[in-house]
Order: sequence, then structure tokens, then C-alpha cells
Amino acid sequence: MGSSSIFEDDVEIIRNADLFTEEHTPAEILCRDDVMQDYVNALKPVYKGRPPRNAFLYGDTGVGKTAATKYLLQELDADIDSRNDDSPGDERGFTYVRVNCQNLAPADGTASSYQVAIALVNELRDGETVSSTGYAAREVYEMLYDELDDIGGTVLIVLDEVDRVGESDTLLYDLPRARDIGYVENTRIGLIGISNDYTFRSNLSPKVRDTLCETEIKFPAYTAAELEEIIEARAERALHPDTYGKEVLSLCAALAVRNSSGSARRAMDLLKQAAEHAENEGHVPIEPDDVYAAKEELDYGDMVESVADQDQHKQLILLAVARLDADGRTPVRTKAIHAAYRRLAQAAGDDPLSQRGMYNHLTRLDMLGFLHSYQNNEGLRGGQYNTYELSEALTVAQVRDAIAESELPLEDVSLDIDRILRDAGLLES
Ligand SMILES: Nc1ncnc2c1ncn2[C@@H]1O[C@H](COP(=O)(O)OP(=O)(O)OP(=O)(O)O)[C@@H](O)[C@H]1O
Ligand SMILES: [Mg+2]
Repeated sequence: MGSSSIFEDDVEIIRNADLFTEEHTPAEILCRDDVMQDYVNALKPVYKGRPPRNAFLYGDTGVGKTAATKYLLQELDADIDSRNDDSPGDERGFTYVRVNCQNLAPADGTASSYQVAIALVNELRDGETVSSTGYAAREVYEMLYDELDDIGGTVLIVLDEVDRVGESDTLLYDLPRARDIGYVENTRIGLIGISNDYTFRSNLSPKVRDTLCETEIKFPAYTAAELEEIIEARAERALHPDTYGKEVLSLCAALAVRNSSGSARRAMDLLKQAAEHAENEGHVPIEPDDVYAAKEELDYGDMVESVADQDQHKQLILLAVARLDADGRTPVRTKAIHAAYRRLAQAAGDDPLSQRGMYNHLTRLDMLGFLHSYQNNEGLRGGQYNTYELSEALTVAQVRDAIAESELPLEDVSLDIDRILRDAGLLES
């Protein structure tokens, strides 16, 4: 008799879950021949020991920008190594670092050039960590350029999600010019910026744009056929044989094109989530219904994420409306939302905004599609006023999950909603 565990499923579909993680670099980049050729051309000077070109990569989320970059830099590194082995006395130094600027930025804000510089120093020093406070900006840049100068050869710096760098000019301007300006003597620096924000490029100052965008590479969205090929290759290695059919792969691809602008990430996530769903249900192979269930789960999570990405005031307002909703009191007037919001803000240790200040956030939440508003007109007696409820896209549970994720201490805060409404003059006492 084998051992049994409550964590065991009767069927196993996923063979190697690591292949579905964000860190995994695919063994090959499929369906990207044109783009990859452009990218290879941009990197050739490094291989040849010539001054590197800067490059700017852009395209929607999930279209392979990061994957292609990691893949090509690994290839370049390996090829330069083997070339060096064959050319004793004529070695070419090559180093690359990649920093994801999104990880350095707060949920609703941007990272500073200073933070990016610290991340680069830590990356270059390989673990020897410089703390993110306590240095003057000038000191940090000095550390960075000293570090870069010590390395020598060519250093390619990849700033992924570069649109998340606020006042990006300092680093984006200085890094490609570091040698000209005299910050470094021994090292040639090439900069690769990656972004899925189309407005980013046009908002750059012309001098920064001209250098960073020396080479521009656009990653178009994938077609359904391309996505199918990409996830089929992943499935072959990540899933057990005979656990999925072509129909399921096509469905994942089609949904990713229809609802997620041709994102390979979404197609991949659908497949993985559908595989887990089938495992939990105890059946093989994966069925279309597992994919639809996966879609529901991912959509639910996306909405939770986008609430959690809002600033604290907006989250508190949404929670106030959700609490009122759970109590059957929506659509509800601004006054009442403000009273509930104020109570929640105090519980979170926050200074509540005035009703006027809160109103700005409220209308923004309406615009963003989290809330739905109604205009009411009660003529001379009641005047005009707005009422709000959660939009059809958002449930009370999603708001609760988002708040739990943001770790605001609000789960157990009780609201006496009758009292709130009475105090706001919206309920007869
Ligand atoms: N052509 C491809 N061949 C194989 N796998 C791919 C390909 N394109 C994308 N992928 C996979 O799809 C997922 C998303 O790709 P990637 O992270 O590169 O997207 P991205 O363009 O960087 O998106 P974002 O702008 O959100 O960062 C990854 O798991 C990646 O391995
Ligand atoms: Mg990316």
C-alpha cells in the first residue's frame, strides 16, 4: 500500500510547475522570428566588441518582451564566453544586469532614479546590499559608476518596466553617456529599456528619447494560432502526456486573444489554472469546462488586483460602499459613504479626507468602472444628489479580498450602519 495524503490528487496533470512561473526563461522563443532578428542585430555590436547600441522595446503585456530579453542575453553571454575561450589574449568582457522597475515602485506610484541606482548597485555587487535609504543621491550614483567602471568591457543594463521610473531623465540620460561625461573610463554601457506603456516614449524628453530609442523594437500582439503554438510547446514539457488535447489549447489561445489582447502570459495562466482545476476535480484529460473555470478564477483575481492597486483612500471608499452594499443599503448617498469611510479611515489609522476631498476619489472610482453612479432629482424638496453602488464588475467579496491583501487592519472593524445613516440624516430616528 502506498502512502496517502489529503494533499494528493487522484490524477496528476502538471509534471513541472516551474515551467509556468514568471522566472522561467523559455528554452526557445517561438513565433517571433522578425522581432528576434531585429533584436539580435541590435546586440551584434556587443558580440563583436564594438560600442553597444541602446534599445527600447515596447508592446502590450505578455507578448514576450522580458522572455526574449532574458533568452537573448543568456545566449549572448554564452556565445561571448565560448568565443573568448577560442581567442586567448583577445577576450571581450561582457556583463548584463536586469532590474524590474515595477518591483521598486509602490503600487500606485513610481520608482525614483535613486532607487533604480541602488537596485543596480545591489545587482552588480551580487547580494552585497546597499540599503535604500541613508545615502545622498550623489553618493548612490557615485557607487553605481564606480561599480560599473570596475567591471570593464561592455555592460548592458536592462531596465524592465522602465515606465515605472518617475523623473526618469537622470538615469536614462546619464547612463548611455556615462563614458562621454567621464563618469566611467573602462566600461562601455548600453541601455535597454522595456515598456508596455505606449505614452511613455512620447513623454520622454527629446534628448533621452534620441539615445534610449536608438533602436526601437515593437513586439506585436500574438494571434490565436501563434499562442497555440507557444502554449503547446510549454505543455509538452510542463504537463504529462495525454492529459490535454488540441481543443483545450485552442480555447486557451482564443480566450487570451479575445479578452487579454493576445497575451502569452494569459494563455499560459489559463492552461495552468485549467490543469489544476482538472486535478482538483479528479479527471483527465483537461476539459473545456476546466478552461472556463480557470477564466473565471483569473478574472476574479484580476479585479481583486486592480482594487488592491488603488491608493488607500480609494480602497477605503470602496470598502465603505461594499459594507453598505452587504447591508443592502446601496445605491447610497455621498454623505453616508463619507460617514462610513471616515470610520474606516480612523480604524486604519488614516486621517480621513473631508467629504469634498473624498468626492474627487469617488468620481474617479466611478470613471474607472469600480462604482456605478445615479443622479437623483427630488425637485425642490430634496434637491439633486448622486447615489453610488458597486459596479456589476465588482463584488463585495472582491473588495474584501483586496483589503485583506493590502493588510489594512480593517477586517474586524464593525460598522453600525443604522447609526451612520442616522448621523448623516439619511434615516429617520
Ligand atoms: N515567443 C514566445 N515563446 C515562448 N514563450 C513565450 C513567448 N512569448 C511569451 N512567452 C511566455 O509568456 C509569458 C509572458 O511573456 P513576457 O513575460 O516576456 O511578457 P512581457 O512582454 O514582458 O509582458 P509585460 O509587459 O507584462 O512585462 C512568459 O511566461 C513567457 O515565457
Ligand atoms: Mg515583462
